[in-house]
Amino acid sequence: MRMTVIGTGYLGAVHAACMADLGHEVLGVDADTRKVAALQDGRAPFFEPGLEEILVRAVRSGKLRFSTSLQEAAEFGDAHFICVGTPQLPGGGGADLSHIETVVDGLAPHLTRDCLVIGKSTVPVGTAARLAARIAGLAPVGAAAGLAWNPEFLREGFAVQDTLRPDRIVVGVTSDGADVLLREIYASVLDLGTPYITTDLATAELVKVAANAFLATKISFINAVANVCDAAGADVMTLADALGHDTRIGRRFLSAGLGFGGGCLSKDIRAFMTRADELGVGDSLQFLREVDQINTGRRTLAVEVARELAGGSFTGRNVAVLGAAFKPGTDDVRDSPALDVARAIQAEGAAVRVHDPRATYNARRAWPALDYVEEAVKACEAADVVLHLTEWREYREIDPSELASVVRTPCLLDGRNVLPLARWRSAGWTVRTLGGAVQLPQVPDKAGA
Ligand code: UDX
Repeated sequence: MRMTVIGTGYLGAVHAACMADLGHEVLGVDADTRKVAALQDGRAPFFEPGLEEILVRAVRSGKLRFSTSLQEAAEFGDAHFICVGTPQLPGGGGADLSHIETVVDGLAPHLTRDCLVIGKSTVPVGTAARLAARIAGLAPVGAAAGLAWNPEFLREGFAVQDTLRPDRIVVGVTSDGADVLLREIYASVLDLGTPYITTDLATAELVKVAANAFLATKISFINAVANVCDAAGADVMTLADALGHDTRIGRRFLSAGLGFGGGCLSKDIRAFMTRADELGVGDSLQFLREVDQINTGRRTLAVEVARELAGGSFTGRNVAVLGAAFKPGTDDVRDSPALDVARAIQAEGAAVRVHDPRATYNARRAWPALDYVEEAVKACEAADVVLHLTEWREYREIDPSELASVVRTPCLLDGRNVLPLARWRSAGWTVRTLGGAVQLPQVPDKAGA
């Protein structure tokens, strides 16, 4: 099938490459000429395991090419996936829909034959119905240019796998024809036994925000319990393991620590609350305000614990920050808890050195005032406090004895509760965590949990 993927950011670049990998003829479209040139060259504009490989393969095979023209897109495709960003509006909690509206207004006037526009971006419920009317009004072919909503659940770091082998495919449609077309597009994924859920537009839009709200709630739940564990001298990681054995609960997304960041969870729960307010049911989502506050509170707590480790003040102190990405496996620093903590500590007078195996380039562009170094051990030279804030595997492999000989004072905050702390303690480190039972050193560590 001939299809276009409009917007080649995280979601779109992966979707375009994966659709071509499934055998479709794909035209990727983006207004950013540099991004288009890089992708046409087979270069991914961000780090995502496995993406470059399928991108190169798809471009070389001729199944995937890129353009900046929406008119070309309209002429080329029978299906048009919209994958542009819906960031948080500056100064408000709602979603900025201007990119999606620009695409619709640019594409629809060129739609001269039957086709299906398929929204993948995360949007406030009600957006799809509004856009469907807008497309039908602007398209020369009228309502024969249909609209469906097909939310995307991919995780950064696993984006290719999540697109080619998703947990489920959800489609919101208003006609049988749209459903048939979507089943055809995803035929080879459906052959793997992937659950496929057909619903209306509003439900499809809501599935996505509800999923992210649930994940955010799960993380904030365990982080709230971590505070109680801290006060009571209990170990939140063991507690989470024990909870996780209950199949009704499950262990995933119960890792306590510095909390969630990235381009989705925070902005999606805020947009969800804003939309619920508009619909007159804001009270129903009050708890998400708590979820958000618990999450940002973890960053404040990390700064406080680090300050205690630094002897009560950061003035004149050297602080090493291990990790800048919002999570391991990505170079994305959007709403990164690690960088937030690094900046707050620098603002209190510390000299902060940051290391990340992948995200230094993006971090430097976002926050040039921090000092970035290429090796973890360099960040720790003469440090008074070492903060482990993004749980890259290589940090778990650090030899704490060797690192102790490099720092000024062997003080560690494990903000992600995954380091082998018994080893660190026996190498002479003073260790703090966010919810771990450091008061009970005889309890075995849960390294690598
Ligand atoms: C998320 C959703 O998982 C995905 O389905 C959606 O499409 C986009 O948003 P992503 O932003 O890539 O994906 O990250 P995710 O793996 O969900 O992690 C989000 C944040 O939560 C990270 O900062 C991570 O460190 C944190 N997290 C995750 C925890 O603090 N504890 C956990 O137990 C799990």
